Amino acid sequence: MSRLSVAIDGPAGAGKSTVARQVAKRLGLTYVDTGAMYRAITWKALQNRIDLAEEGSLAQLVRETRIRLKTGRRGMEVWVDGMLVSEAIRAPAVTSNVSAVAGQPEVRRVLVEKQQELAREGGVVMDGRDIGTRVLPEAEIKVFLTASIEERARRRYHEWVRRGYSIDMEDLKKEISMRDEKDKNREHSPLRPAEDAVHLDTTGLSVEEVVSSILELCRTKVGGG
Ligand code: DC
Repeated sequence: MSRLSVAIDGPAGAGKSTVARQVAKRLGLTYVDTGAMYRAITWKALQNRIDLAEEGSLAQLVRETRIRLKTGRRGMEVWVDGMLVSEAIRAPAVTSNVSAVAGQPEVRRVLVEKQQELAREGGVVMDGRDIGTRVLPEAEIKVFLTASIEERARRRYHEWVRRGYSIDMEDLKKEISMRDEKDKNREHSPLRPAEDAVHLDTTGLSVEEVVSSILELCRTKVGGG
């Protein structure tokens, strides 16, 4: 399965990154977290105090930024212009501004090109919002993961607590719903399932159950079953 492309899309908190990372590991493929790339640009724009509504400055910023995704000792590492930002890009300020940045066409054009380049280098499991529809329309496997808003908020809540942030569950639900709305209704590459995507509702399922379903899907597709 060394040249296989697996596209995993879905809204925030549906379990995409945990599941995608596991599937990649089990199949010996490279995991690409495309959300981390949009977060990296948002982080740098905030650092440089760029007006996020100003398309020109953001376009220039994305063109001159070097983003690298690397598997390090402590999981996936995100590097921006030689700086390790894996933790910084998960901060609340980045999360609440990332949809605005991801809505800019030039940001998407540059990052999509980079994502397609990564996929050309070898087999990938890529997660995001537009992987099956825009980035890898020819992917052999396309999965659209969803989960109820309560479950997604619960998962994010535990993630925040683990990282040492205190956060209100209701605020989290609002934040996730708002991001869903923005991601679904934006003009460029909105969040939506590809026509040939397999839908998987992960509410109440364990990571292992979801991973097994996707691995099974890969086996049947590749094995022609
Ligand atoms: O998966 P995530 O929460 O880290 O993604 C952060 C944001 O980036 C998300 O709100 C929408 C955007 N995004 C996107 O527009 N396209 C992608 N392929 C991946 C993420």
